[in-house]
Amino acid sequence: MRVLFIGDIVGKAGSEYLKSHLKTLVSSYPSDIVVANGENINPKNGITQAEAESLHFAGVDAITLGNHAFRQQNVYGFLDDCPYIVRPANYPSVSPGKGVATFDTPKGRIAVASLAGQVGLDPSDNAFYTADRIVKEYPDHFLIIDFHAEATSEKKALGFYLDGRAGCVFGTHTHVQTADEQFLPKGTAYITDAGMTGSSESVLGAKKDQAISRFLTRAFVPLEQEEKSPEINAVYADTEKKQIVRIKM
Ligand SMILES: [Fe+2]
Repeated sequence: MRVLFIGDIVGKAGSEYLKSHLKTLVSSYPSDIVVANGENINPKNGITQAEAESLHFAGVDAITLGNHAFRQQNVYGFLDDCPYIVRPANYPSVSPGKGVATFDTPKGRIAVASLAGQVGLDPSDNAFYTADRIVKEYPDHFLIIDFHAEATSEKKALGFYLDGRAGCVFGTHTHVQTADEQFLPKGTAYITDAGMTGSSESVLGAKKDQAISRFLTRAFVPLEQEEKSPEINAVYADTEKKQIVRIKM
């Protein structure tokens, strides 16, 4: 399977840049599925129906979310009905939306799931046990997990825990791309964090002066998204050729 996975898209900078470069990217990295984390695409975090549909129209097959999944309150019905968008599967079953989306491709069936980490994020069910359940429920699917988590240790641990049972375990949420893309010993494609698709001249997507001011003063300084110098951060895995590439463009 060939998977192109786009790291957290932040705001207009990230989404517009991605939409205008996605075709070029896919021509360099032919993919059976394109997955993108879109939980920060809205200027106030989260995602709206219009933003999700526009991303899908541009060529993103599956959209994953994370701790900001429910920031836009009028998206809940859309999350319930839309077949290509997932919020963390280890959220309560009564939460809006679903945790797993399935896709039929000429290469076979794919299940895309989101999981939220337990370290440093709001409480959720244990991601490891939820992953076990997903593996059992989708035995004939190539499983792509977006592990939306803060701690590198938790991400590494889940990668090894699912090695040989998931096709890909790709981390998101920290917005900083890690240099550890690899195939784990039993064949799972892995990276601790795919990085951020947004302004490279920002602090995790926010205007740097505002972020610095928060650290200097401890006062509440509202953070606005930076739009300067956008770039795409992504990871590409071809599991047949055993090729995995970290992308910055
Ligand atoms: Fe996040």
